[in-house]
Amino acid sequence: MTSADQKKKSAAQAALKLVFPGMRLGLGTGSTASAFVTLLGEKVREGLDIIAVPTSEDTRRLAEARGIRLTTLDETPTLDLCVDGADEVDPVLNLIKGGGGALLREKIVAQASARMVVIVDDTKLSDNLGGFPLPVEVVPFGARATVMSIDEATRRHGIGGAIVRREIGGAPFVTDNNMHIYDCHYRNIPDPALLAADIASIAGVAEHGLFAGIASTVVVGTDDGVEIMGQPI
Ligand code: 5RP
Repeated sequence: MTSADQKKKSAAQAALKLVFPGMRLGLGTGSTASAFVTLLGEKVREGLDIIAVPTSEDTRRLAEARGIRLTTLDETPTLDLCVDGADEVDPVLNLIKGGGGALLREKIVAQASARMVVIVDDTKLSDNLGGFPLPVEVVPFGARATVMSIDEATRRHGIGGAIVRREIGGAPFVTDNNMHIYDCHYRNIPDPALLAADIASIAGVAEHGLFAGIASTVVVGTDDGVEIMGQPI
């Protein structure tokens, strides 16, 4: 049986085939995206000329350490390709993201990219989203009221479950944008696009981790190599 790390690396290696000289890239966050950044750094050392926007401070530090030339969306507002991980993937390429707490910047970068390619190991595949608690990035001001609004909105659609503030050592987890994350334990999300629109409409929600209709390709690392979902690579 192939290890999870090897599957992540296989997916990252396959995604690297989509990178060409001169490209403007978005670099995702998490262990799978880090495998991609590490491999990309090797290509850069061999002479590949690309420029990239990181989706988190962690990824910025890793990319800098690997010698990858970085830019910002203010300097470079459109990107050719974004490569990122995911926490859960359904058969039509809807995603849950934000396990690492970087979902807001990840979505901004994905939205600025002509193409989003997701790299995962096969444990992330699911028939219905919701097995992974949905992360929602919330403005700290009025967070309790915002969470009640999220709960009301989702219950109207027959979806409910505990909404838990993410904490580290008893203190709230603070994102790169100085906001908090609430993990919504819905278990099953029948219509991800509908829920995405409902949660996004609530003031106080900075962004949520549902990526509905954004990814064009998912590269899945498996025991036998990689499988491609969606647009071929
Ligand atoms: C971070 C993310 C990550 O892409 C997601 O959590 C997957 O991480 P990993 O590759 O470590 O499993 O959305 O906000």
